[in-house]
Amino acid sequence: MLDVARIREDFPILSRKVHGDVPLVYLDSAATSQKPLSVIEAESNFYLNANAAIHRGAHALAEIATEHYESSRAAIAHFIGARPNEVVFVKNATEALNLIAYGFSNATAKFRNGSQLLAGEERFVLKPGDEIVLTEMEHHANLVPWQEVVLKTGAVLKFIPTTDDGRLVVDNLADIITERTKVVSVVHQSNLLGTLNPVQLIGAQAKAVGAWFILDACQSVPHMSVDVTTLGADFVAFSGHKMCGPTGIGVLWGSSEALDALPVFLTGGSMIETVYFDHSTYAKAPAKFEAGTPMSAQIVGLAAAVKYLSDLGMDAIAEHEHRLTAAALSALQQIDGVRIVGPTEALNRGSAISFVVDSLHPHDVGHVLDSRGVAVRVGHHCAWPTCRRMNVPATTRASFYLYNDESEIEHLVSGILAAQKFFGVA
Ligand code: ALA
Repeated sequence: MLDVARIREDFPILSRKVHGDVPLVYLDSAATSQKPLSVIEAESNFYLNANAAIHRGAHALAEIATEHYESSRAAIAHFIGARPNEVVFVKNATEALNLIAYGFSNATAKFRNGSQLLAGEERFVLKPGDEIVLTEMEHHANLVPWQEVVLKTGAVLKFIPTTDDGRLVVDNLADIITERTKVVSVVHQSNLLGTLNPVQLIGAQAKAVGAWFILDACQSVPHMSVDVTTLGADFVAFSGHKMCGPTGIGVLWGSSEALDALPVFLTGGSMIETVYFDHSTYAKAPAKFEAGTPMSAQIVGLAAAVKYLSDLGMDAIAEHEHRLTAAALSALQQIDGVRIVGPTEALNRGSAISFVVDSLHPHDVGHVLDSRGVAVRVGHHCAWPTCRRMNVPATTRASFYLYNDESEIEHLVSGILAAQKFFGVA
């Protein structure tokens, strides 16, 4: 069981006041989490004691910086059950998913030009009519990059549907993921609906037809124990800033086989093997995907974040969030005029809870909550088509993390009641 009062001491920002002297109730961790002191100190310590360009200089500080960088990679890999050379550092999950999507576009462009494909790249060539399967609950980061792939390759998008209560329809997967499917890319846990998806089932069907299987795990890795080797995926993407880590650092995990075959995305220094005026050869993964001077301090900060989470225990964090989620779902559903958008029970569900309040626009709800110090996200949550699918223009979303407690559910509820009263819809 988490000692939330103690944990909150590690996050000084949670004690700050907003709007003068209103205590902060931070319920927006699905957008970005707060950072414990150990993460802030790790980043600062890197700059104070170890900063140098990694993998380059022939001097002591460069070696120290490189050691920080690579030992951080090893720690982050260990956190997700991976080997260090399967972990690629990127800016965030959005960049990770773009990196993969560009791999398909680039392989296809080279194929069409008659250019020489490198070993394995032919597996990323898409032909007109090839199918890319997503779900109706992707956020924009796992939708828009594939729309671009479609424009460049002639492939087509298909979607695993969502039920009215925010679950995926998986009883006819073989009709959706077929011999024509070349890519299946799905969200592990929805940022809008909170739904935890049966990804092993989907992955098994993807593998049965020989398709690549990609997971957007940026709402699951921060909240539960995730071992990438058990999910059946070729690639898994997540962001550091949602898991107590710094902004500007994300992870693309890929199996060695997948990373070796995937065409390069960003090119330049550090990702090469040899360079001539007219052509270059590339380093092996992960270096071939890490062009330019990387975000070393942020990587060290992310390693401190995974240490922080591991010391608390991911199972304890998941159990804590599960309890809060069940309590919040129950409390919200007792308010007249409030409707949950997404699963109404905590089973197979994360702690991001979207809801609508009858006769009130989410922005008005959010405004009243904010005036009482309660930070939630309002709008379409970068999942606009999913909002349309759920027949709502937007939602208010409260999202809970390891530093939230039951008293904050009461603040949320009293804020919603206050909004209803203020706008005369109670
Ligand atoms: N980061 C976005 C969110 O708030 C997608 O869910």
